[in-house]
Amino acid sequence: MIHLLSSTSEDPNPLCLSLAPMEGVTDWIMRDILTSLGGIDFCVTEFLRVTKNLHPNKVFYRHCPELLTESKTSVGTPVILQLLGGDPLPMGENAQRAAELGAAGIDLNFGCPAKTVNRHDGGAVLLKASHRLYDITKSVRQSVPATIPVSGKIRLGFEDASLFVENALALQEAGASWITVHCRTKSQGYRPPAHWHFISHLKHKIHIPVIANGDIDSVHSFNACKEITQGHAFMIGRAGLSNPFLFKKIKNLNVVAFSEEEEWNQIEELITHFYSRCAHHINGYFATARTKQWLKFLLTKKPPSIELFNKIKIYKDPSEFHYHLLKNLKSNNNDTPLLSGMEVNKDKTPHEAIC
Ligand SMILES: Cc1cc2nc3c(=O)[nH]c(=O)nc-3n(C[C@H](O)[C@H](O)[C@H](O)COP(=O)(O)O)c2cc1C
Repeated sequence: MIHLLSSTSEDPNPLCLSLAPMEGVTDWIMRDILTSLGGIDFCVTEFLRVTKNLHPNKVFYRHCPELLTESKTSVGTPVILQLLGGDPLPMGENAQRAAELGAAGIDLNFGCPAKTVNRHDGGAVLLKASHRLYDITKSVRQSVPATIPVSGKIRLGFEDASLFVENALALQEAGASWITVHCRTKSQGYRPPAHWHFISHLKHKIHIPVIANGDIDSVHSFNACKEITQGHAFMIGRAGLSNPFLFKKIKNLNVVAFSEEEEWNQIEELITHFYSRCAHHINGYFATARTKQWLKFLLTKKPPSIELFNKIKIYKDPSEFHYHLLKNLKSNNNDTPLLSGMEVNKDKTPHEAIC
């Protein structure tokens, strides 16, 4: 059961935090590492594009290896599979197959702003026509068992927010279990601010849960978003990488006050672990690119990452990059790499079968 849909008599609306889908960023290795830190109630995969055909099973497994482990990360956090496409029939067929393979839920991407995606009738362009959101959501809802939640992730609108409420109502009428709102229009791209107040208006008009998303990057901004939306469900994307303990801090879980230095030491461990797992499961070039990408996210929030990034960003060759990564860790004060060469995490996970 997804936490968002569970409630007890003591707490009818328990706080629910989800990790946002981020294409090319929150793959299964990242999902596994971030959920292992605690505080995340569920994740959504990067989008899986649907055109006319039914994807073969191996595509679903590659996209969401957690299907092999009851759709959960290794610490048991549910993972919902996101589909993107504009044609109700194949969207339904692919959703049905994902459900047969064990997906914990299906999320529908109605927010992607990428030009190529929009040109091919997917993502935010669908926000221009509420009936299309309805048709796609209805088709998916009817194609998967009632026990499997179907949700929609929208923006406020395409050019402006004039269809916002209509779009949300269309999803609700089509049977969506909840709606996630990235509180910007497509035209706004990722420019701040996220307009959280739209959610408080919407909540008076619909009865299904609404997840607030956009620009939650600290406990302070979380509190501001909670205050404005009066909600209990939130989704965090970029700050999941720039501030990896944020979910736990928001939930106040085991908050032994870390010094900045202690927190950085832990982040260094995460980064090296991430590199090793990417190198092991994919390859060294992938590991190098993704580790640089993570460091870039960290630059905005964690000052020690600036020095580390500047020292290692020039290295393209994986063994050189890995050597300099280890050499420049603050926690490695004897100036020699902690691990030699390409040492990797030898823990076998069920995902290895296909990754
Ligand atoms: C690199 C990147 C990739 C993204 N990929 C997806 C995606 O695959 N599906 C989706 O629904 N949203 C995607 N998003 C949007 C995020 O899920 C989220 O709505 C957005 O980043 C705002 O939340 P944040 O301010 O917490 O990052 C992506 C965002 C970024 C930055």
